[in-house]
Amino acid sequence: MSQRTGSLVVSELIGGRVRGMQEYAPEPLAETARRLGVAPASLIKLDANENPYGPTDRAAAVLRAYAEHHRYPDPISRRLRQAIGSYLSVDPDQILVGNGSDELIDLLLRLFRPAPRPVAGSNADDRAPNGIGQVIDCQPSFGMYAFYGVANDMQVVDIPRTSGYGVDVEAIETLCARDPQPRILFVASPNNPDGQLLPEAALRRLLALPLVVVLDEAYVEFAGDSRVGWVAEHDNLIVLRTFSKWAGLAGLRVGYGVFPPALATALLKLKSPYNVNGAAQAAALATLEDVEQAMARVRLLVAERERLYTRLQDIPVVQPHPSQANYIMCHVRGYTLAELRDWMEARGILLRYYGRGALADCIRISVGTPEQNDAVIEALEALPSQVLASKE
Ligand SMILES: Cc1ncc(COP(=O)(O)O)c(C=O)c1O
Repeated sequence: MSQRTGSLVVSELIGGRVRGMQEYAPEPLAETARRLGVAPASLIKLDANENPYGPTDRAAAVLRAYAEHHRYPDPISRRLRQAIGSYLSVDPDQILVGNGSDELIDLLLRLFRPAPRPVAGSNADDRAPNGIGQVIDCQPSFGMYAFYGVANDMQVVDIPRTSGYGVDVEAIETLCARDPQPRILFVASPNNPDGQLLPEAALRRLLALPLVVVLDEAYVEFAGDSRVGWVAEHDNLIVLRTFSKWAGLAGLRVGYGVFPPALATALLKLKSPYNVNGAAQAAALATLEDVEQAMARVRLLVAERERLYTRLQDIPVVQPHPSQANYIMCHVRGYTLAELRDWMEARGILLRYYGRGALADCIRISVGTPEQNDAVIEALEALPSQVLASKE
């Protein structure tokens, strides 16, 4: 029942956009283990594109020795930005570190969303109206672009990907020609869930439009083909990266972006003071101080991705999509996703199941260790064959 405070019913004051939003709450591993009646350590968790090898030895040692829990961290991650600058050959002043790249998506939208109408005596910007009101999302893709777009009261326009999961550049060009208002576009490359890179020519065409282009390279270490060098030549390009995947630090939440100088300066003013905690900064820095071990693991995962893809091609129930990332999206044939999920969970294997729109029959398998991948292959091969539809 609603509680009244004077004449206010506070629950009725919640913005309409929030009422329509879905909580983002994937089941944590301990919960899944409880639901399945097994120990968490017995589960093969390949549902969130995490790195099965975890942090590098150096990052793990730095975390064990970390003794600054009682101190506030460097609010602008100076040492880490220096190290990222050297890692990417980019000016550290153009880098901003965030609490995961998720935070940077939100922060960017807060930077660009239009100011409220000026009211005399308020803190609203009283200059000419500015900002960006529309976010372009290209589904299927990472869900957080639309999530933060809605959370920031921006209009989210979906320009669906083509049947091969490519960005429909022509449709975006048509939209911009019809109504040339400035917009912000999010494109993941490699895209999540299909694992495809955005072709260079497509990026060039997008950058020629009245768009702020956010190229999300969360998985680019697995593809080895970054466009971060293009930020210097395009003041409408932002590249987002993260330590969650290749560096095995998803739980510590360290992402970063490379921004045109004016945006980096503005975002530093807007961000929360201590957005990246001290342990996370130290672990990310340690990763970059000995990047070779992390990259050796990336090479292992890439080799496993290719092996897994080849094996999956021979299994009738799945139709894998070639991927440049640390996961493989597959169409499922002959079983519903719920049936497949039951089968895999009974064998302690957790995958990502979609089930809507263009992904109605799709799953995503994160690449694990060779043993984990073998378990996936074995479980899929063991599915009773009498119900299998023929592979097209
Ligand atoms: C395309 C893409 N971008 C960003 C992220 C979020 O990364 P972070 O852990 O740095 O917030 C993910 C995580 O799954 C992702 O798939």
